[in-house]
Amino acid sequence: MRKLHALLLTLGAAIGLAAFVQPAEKKRVDTMVVPEMAVADSVKKDPETGLAIDGQLMLVKAHCTSCHSPKLIIQNRFTRDGWKEKIRWMQRTQKLWDLGESEPKVLDYLVKYYGPEQKTFDGRRMPLKDVKWYELKSK
Ligand code: HEC
Repeated sequence: MRKLHALLLTLGAAIGLAAFVQPAEKKRVDTMVVPEMAVADSVKKDPETGLAIDGQLMLVKAHCTSCHSPKLIIQNRFTRDGWKEKIRWMQRTQKLWDLGESEPKVLDYLVKYYGPEQKTFDGRRMPLKDVKWYELKSK
């Protein structure tokens, strides 16, 4: 009886410990994922087009959604020069009009929401800066 009691106690302790350890590890993984998601979710989307809601949204909708789906914008990531190149290409080959004074504003918007993705922390430290290297002297 005593032995059984001891066994049950050990078992109980083991289960208790497992239950205690498991969520703690899970939590650690969750907190690593959360900041990324929080950033992605903090931008409100226009229900009609799926484009990010911003002061320039109407301008972008007017210039950029009459020929094709806004998905073509949403699924792409370009630098400012990259977006400018796409616009020039559409102007050369797809009869896109001159955006005039709107062009810089449209570009601001595109780069802000559809620019190259910010690389999130990948677990490595930042490269060292201003390292003063020295030669190892062999004896
Ligand atoms: C006059 C019509 C027209 C307008 C207006 C227009 N586009 Fe396009 N765009 C096109 C066509 C046509 C394509 C090629 C579609 C395809 O490949 O199916 C295209 C393709 C694209 C692509 C995909 C390019 C690639 O390399 O895959 C992007 C991104 C894009 N447009 C963004 C924009 C943005 C941003 C605007 C607003 C500044 C805009 N478009 C306005 C006609 C237009």
